[in-house]
Amino acid sequence: MDADAPEAEYAYGPELLPDASDGQDDIWRWRRLLPLDGSDSYPLQVGGTPLLHPRSLRDTLGLPGLVLKDETRTPTGSNKDRATALCVVDAARRGAAGIAAASSGNVAVSLAAGGAAAGLPAYLFVSGRSVAPSKVDLMRAFGATVFLVDGSYEAAYRLSEAACERFGWYSRNTGANPLAVEGKKTVAFEVWEQLGRIMPRVVYLPVGDGVTLAAYARGCQELVHCRVAERVPRIVGVQASGAAPLADAFARGQSSWTPVQPRTIADGIAVGDPCYGGPAIDAVRATSGEFVRVDDADLQAAVAMLARTTGLLAEPAGAASLAGVMAHRRAGRALDGTVVALITATGLKDQRWLPRESGRAIEVAPDLDALAARL
Ligand SMILES: Cc1ncc(COP(=O)(O)O)c(C=O)c1O
Repeated sequence: MDADAPEAEYAYGPELLPDASDGQDDIWRWRRLLPLDGSDSYPLQVGGTPLLHPRSLRDTLGLPGLVLKDETRTPTGSNKDRATALCVVDAARRGAAGIAAASSGNVAVSLAAGGAAAGLPAYLFVSGRSVAPSKVDLMRAFGATVFLVDGSYEAAYRLSEAACERFGWYSRNTGANPLAVEGKKTVAFEVWEQLGRIMPRVVYLPVGDGVTLAAYARGCQELVHCRVAERVPRIVGVQASGAAPLADAFARGQSSWTPVQPRTIADGIAVGDPCYGGPAIDAVRATSGEFVRVDDADLQAAVAMLARTTGLLAEPAGAASLAGVMAHRRAGRALDGTVVALITATGLKDQRWLPRESGRAIEVAPDLDALAARL
């Protein structure tokens, strides 16, 4: 089944925004800026994630204006749940026999849970070569059917689209289904509202397929169209240096990119040929933004820094935005004003990259003096 919803259009104006006192704390409070009419409900709570003002991290980086949008606090611990919510509601309304997606991991976990919540079979296509085994376990725990494709993420993507065509499944594929962008743009609304209805100066976002970034820019643009904000923030896209086709194209002043063989520990952004790369590059350019490349050591340092100074645990792709901020600080950038880093996914689902050297595990006899001797 084709999710053939056209790109949504709205009669923009301040009246589309929710009443600050409506008491609702999820994505549906933005229903007048979403293409579904809000009459359908989604069983899981999605959206309304915290905006953190991390004192110790700010001091460490010398960045008093740094805020973190904590997208680890969603049903499956990633920002993918925003897109899943809209797609699952739409699929159920259309009476789909199943819902499918290709994924580097987090989309699939999200859709497995969403399908379970809505009573829809989920068919998930992941690269058997690179998917985290613990994420496959999570997908299976939710009762999903997981296809471990002997090929890259791009190959899994093509197979999933063909399977949707053949078997009539609803495609939640990011890049193919416009509802993915519509769902993900809600995070921009929330940040603006949580800052007191003010736009940040700059926003750092991880980039794999480019949907997260393009959706954030779209959300900001819609607030401008609604005449409640004056400008869109500068958007900085963060790519892993082993999977940076968009950063490379942007550096050359081009809008088209040469696909690469991705090599990075950050599986969420290990995309060699992004399916939403064009809109992502356009959004960065339109906001006078830029791309920054970070290597795996930078990503691991960001995961460790985040965990130690804020108590937030992210996977490497989830901490990529912070890695970008840290890279710019190292390069001597001042970064004045409010700087947002979107923390896109928890580190609990894939513990291969935990910064274990941050703390200590000490073997000790059950005796206080023995304990004192080891301190
Ligand atoms: C944790 C995490 N961050 C960022 C991204 C990148 O999002 P996009 O593919 O929309 O660019 C992903 C994508 O899977 C992800 O899993």
